[in-house]
Amino acid sequence: MRRLLIAGNWKMNHGPSQSREFGRDLKAKGLQDFSPEILLCPPYVSIQALRESLEGTPVQIGGQNLHQEPKGAYTGEISGEMLKEAGCVYVLIGHSERRQYFHETDDLVHAKILRAHDAGLIPVVCIGETLEERENGITKDVITRQLKGALEGLSPEIMKTLVLAYEPVWAIGTGKTATAGQAQEVHAMIRKILKESFSTEISENTRILYGGSAKPNNAEELLSEADIDGLLIGGASLKTEDFYTIIGIA
Ligand code: G3P
Repeated sequence: MRRLLIAGNWKMNHGPSQSREFGRDLKAKGLQDFSPEILLCPPYVSIQALRESLEGTPVQIGGQNLHQEPKGAYTGEISGEMLKEAGCVYVLIGHSERRQYFHETDDLVHAKILRAHDAGLIPVVCIGETLEERENGITKDVITRQLKGALEGLSPEIMKTLVLAYEPVWAIGTGKTATAGQAQEVHAMIRKILKESFSTEISENTRILYGGSAKPNNAEELLSEADIDGLLIGGASLKTEDFYTIIGIA
């Protein structure tokens, strides 16, 4: 049985004081250590404030990216070890905005997965097609390429904890959510590729999150699909009320 994971990707929103306020508000709602697992990925400078404000709750903290090297002359970058020391358990890798604006490739995603594992972090690996790719009917080719590029050769040990997030680029921040059927179709495709590339066990146990305009009004339908094991939420995770509603639905 795959444990549901509801994750918020705050992107470049909520500095330390706003994050502290969010955490206090969320903590006041009396979250219990129940399903789903809850993860929040704030900007780096807000990790400590959020973690401290959520002390004593089951909410996990994650990074939004990491450098593929453990340390060195990389101005503006952050290492997996720094995220781990700051209290992160997970780290997002290969988000479409990293691929689009920072030209991250499948090979770089692969290197970052290895780095995250070595730093003791659980990778949340993002994949998804653009509108043009979907309209050209090559979604399956794109998902296959991204999956194999990211995961090829990874050890069963890494695959045991790794989380995938399917985020159709055309649904991110647009309000155009994929229908539950569209999302389920790709999630099932991903699970089939995992079975062919790794094993039935890895395929069955890997959590595949959906991301792309997930909101309180569509979360329940998305989560009712057999191969959707959680959500990776952007905009709707920035307000405690919306995020709490989705957690309550899950
Ligand atoms: O990583 C999650 C994010 O890309 C989805 O954003 O605002 O469409 O929920 P949003």
